[in-house]
Amino acid sequence: MARKMLIAGNWKMNGLSAEGIALATEIKTAVKAKKRTCEFLVCPPFTMLSTVKKALRGTKVALGAQDCHFNEKGAHTGDVSPLMLIDSGCSYVILGHSERRADHGESNELVCKKAIAANKAGLKAIICIGETLEQRDRGETVDVCKNQVLGSVPDDATALNTVIAYEPVWAIGTGKTPTAEDVEEVHAQVRKVLAKKLGKTQANKMRILYGGSVKPSNAKEFLSLPDVDGALIGGASLKSADFMAIADNASC
Ligand code: PGA
Repeated sequence: MARKMLIAGNWKMNGLSAEGIALATEIKTAVKAKKRTCEFLVCPPFTMLSTVKKALRGTKVALGAQDCHFNEKGAHTGDVSPLMLIDSGCSYVILGHSERRADHGESNELVCKKAIAANKAGLKAIICIGETLEQRDRGETVDVCKNQVLGSVPDDATALNTVIAYEPVWAIGTGKTPTAEDVEEVHAQVRKVLAKKLGKTQANKMRILYGGSVKPSNAKEFLSLPDVDGALIGGASLKSADFMAIADNASC
């Protein structure tokens, strides 16, 4: 089953416009410099979406946001709707990142509502799952991830409008990573749950990204695993050379 690799940068709450433009421009140049087999995506903070979109003009690098509300509009101070993201040039939105689950108490149910709204507006949702260190130590990794998939992924999700990102919470921004065997095990189990929930066809086509301290030196190890279809990259996505080296080292 040929799934197109997705190399996605999650810029989190970093950078002002000048830095965003510079980073996007460098990525644009590097992506254009040679033939690529993967899809590239950058997810800047809300404030920079339109600016970065302009900087990316003329490339296939996609634009995504890091969250959205589940309503189309209304009295929700500080929130941003899926349609507003489309209006800013986005085609993707990251949902249920562990930092949002932890900082804003986002539940599986809420993430699912957001994903439904995002899909309805025409956005592809990147739904994040992953266990904490305590859950891992208790041997609950696979169960936690399965439950997050069951609760956060809409029942009618398809491989066209949904991407899963497996990000062990303890691996995010720490430089620590699971072994390749551990990652493949979780991805394979997640694909099995997706098959039960959405049917085999969608599950086999749906991309499952790995995220958590991905860098040029470990990119090949993770991205060559059979059930890993790309990476969601935080820290290393803020330097164009590292971001591009991840794709280069994974030969995509
Ligand atoms: P990291 O972040 O690459 O800095 O570990 C990944 C993420 O949180 O998406």
